[in-house]
Amino acid sequence: MGEVASFKQRIDLLVDELTEASYRYYVLSTPTLSDAEYDRKYRELEKLEAEHPDLVRPDSPTKRVGSTPLSAFTTVTHRVPMLSLNNAMNEVEIGEFDDQVRRFLEKEHGRRDEVEYTIEHKFDGVAITLAYRNGEFVQGATRGDGYEGEDVTLNLRTIKAIPLKLRSAQAIPYIEVRGEVLFLSAPFEAFNEERVASGEEPFANPRNAASGSLRQLDPAITAKRPLTFFAYGIGDVEGLTIPESHYECMKFVASLGFPISPSLRKVSGVSGVLAAYRDAGVARMSLPFEVDGVVVKVNSLPLQALLGFRQRSPRWAVACKFPPVEENTMLLDIVIQVGRTGALTPVAVLEPVRVGGVVVARATLHNEDEVRRKGLKIGDRVIVRRQGDVIPAVVANIPGLRDGTEREFIFPQCCPECEGPVARPEGEKVARCTNPRCPSKISQRLIHYSCRDAADIEGLGEKMVELLIEHRLVADISAIFELTQAQLEALPRMGETSSKNLIAAIEKSKKIALNKFIFALGIRHVGERTALLLARHAKTLDKFLSLTEAELLQIHEVGEETAKAVEAYLGNDAERAMIARLRQQGVNVLPLEDVQASTLTGKTFVLTGTFATLSRKEAEAKVLALSGKVSGSVSKNTSYVVAGADPGSKLDKAKELGVTVLSEEEFLKICG
Ligand code: IVH
Repeated sequence: MGEVASFKQRIDLLVDELTEASYRYYVLSTPTLSDAEYDRKYRELEKLEAEHPDLVRPDSPTKRVGSTPLSAFTTVTHRVPMLSLNNAMNEVEIGEFDDQVRRFLEKEHGRRDEVEYTIEHKFDGVAITLAYRNGEFVQGATRGDGYEGEDVTLNLRTIKAIPLKLRSAQAIPYIEVRGEVLFLSAPFEAFNEERVASGEEPFANPRNAASGSLRQLDPAITAKRPLTFFAYGIGDVEGLTIPESHYECMKFVASLGFPISPSLRKVSGVSGVLAAYRDAGVARMSLPFEVDGVVVKVNSLPLQALLGFRQRSPRWAVACKFPPVEENTMLLDIVIQVGRTGALTPVAVLEPVRVGGVVVARATLHNEDEVRRKGLKIGDRVIVRRQGDVIPAVVANIPGLRDGTEREFIFPQCCPECEGPVARPEGEKVARCTNPRCPSKISQRLIHYSCRDAADIEGLGEKMVELLIEHRLVADISAIFELTQAQLEALPRMGETSSKNLIAAIEKSKKIALNKFIFALGIRHVGERTALLLARHAKTLDKFLSLTEAELLQIHEVGEETAKAVEAYLGNDAERAMIARLRQQGVNVLPLEDVQASTLTGKTFVLTGTFATLSRKEAEAKVLALSGKVSGSVSKNTSYVVAGADPGSKLDKAKELGVTVLSEEEFLKICG
């Protein structure tokens, strides 16, 4: 054997041994090599690789950390959207989930059998997707908005629980494994203390620490963080048939070298689910990472396909949150926040306390009556509750601990931001500042107008808006369209490039879809969904501006309160004048496509491959806007598979099942 061949053999052996040792340590938690032995082999490998750079393997454990930091993350479009889960907050809601599943299946199937479910942890970390081509880890991305995320491949490579190469004898052309990156709980406190000591802000919880760690441009920093990974699903696949049940899919994923939920099990019916949920609630305390519940999934993939999706979450799964955690702490103060509708909200300022893994320092008290109802005084000991992602709440005071130094809270008679008049109409719980020029109201409205789901003006976030208001550059939304580059450059910390970028982002936002525009206006009770309903009904801005309460009430899902709020908004001269100014300044509100809003009702689409004119997100939005459904997998219930370039295995499956396949052009025709 030649010399080089023997070096190659030795390198291969070391890579394999170290990878195996890492797998046993990080994935199976059953170490086989001592630390000293691991280090010795690692150093030998490093030395050999330095001497023979041409023999270095990309999956070598020494190559987990790349050498050059990035300057920015690029965007990745998910081939299969990464949606979210509906929550069940208690056992009653878990029962309701099972009921819905069975009722749906009965309607579609004619049978109301007990359903087999799987149970696994609801990991409280950062969702990611990992793509492997021919067994090699090629790309990893964050969930982002579910359709597009950030490419964080280099950072993910540093996480030892993520295999750089799949453990599989079978050829796997392409697979995406999905799961959650977690920051381990035990090192979290110490990590935060170190941050504080070095003058950095501490992270509020391990989830934020995981997210912050993945967003480092220098992977060498990520490599130092105690991160781990658990897989909970499969995204897109090519050239591979996956098992027909979630349970078997997860076993398959585990066989490829990924850690999966240690609590994964199959159960029968709602009684099985509840028993497993209770067990997991007890076991959670001894886990080395944070979980905030269990996820229940219908085990059979064909049944999953039948159940399909709602707007953003599957009908076949639910996140069952653990019951709330409570702590007591000191109510240091009650301050007033002024929102975009002028609402004055009392907020509790608390002595920071850790409640179920999260440090709580503020909690909304909703309104004046709520403060009274709870009998809160400043200086009280209070009970704070947190339930999963739900905003922390002050539940009650502990009067027995009062020492007489507590102070009554007095609700202000005028706005604490602008000293403007405050009104609280009969029968309403909320007091509002009525000064249309209140800077706090203006800034909240502007922040809302420019947010991602509204006008999406990049660079016009909270800090920037405050800066503009502080320097009196804007007094209402329309004023942002009058800003000049010179004005921005004169602001502190604003250079030429950032000013130019902001002006460009503002210009770009002038073209805006009607539903986004209605949402951006910040009308009371009009969230994203209601804005879409209103836009679908009105189709054009002019028609929207002429809607009456009676007409609004005819729109399905629009209730009395919303109709009243919209009419009040449309009847307000100042608001109409502001909209007129926006139009004058070139804001072009695009009418919603003039098609029947529900032409795709009952139709399920599966999108695959890359489209020439549409992003995946845009194609999905089209289907949803026309009341169709989008699913991630092809079944006999799929109405159409829309195939772009490089379509992958879904096209094969569609052909196999005889599902109609559409080209992008045909798809666009169907959408009108
Ligand atoms: S399955 C179609 N399983 O929870 C959605 N998600 O609110 C499929 N999560 O962003 C998701 N643990 O990151 C699933 N065992 C688990 C999970 C899990 C945590 C996260 C996930 C998602 C969020 C949904």
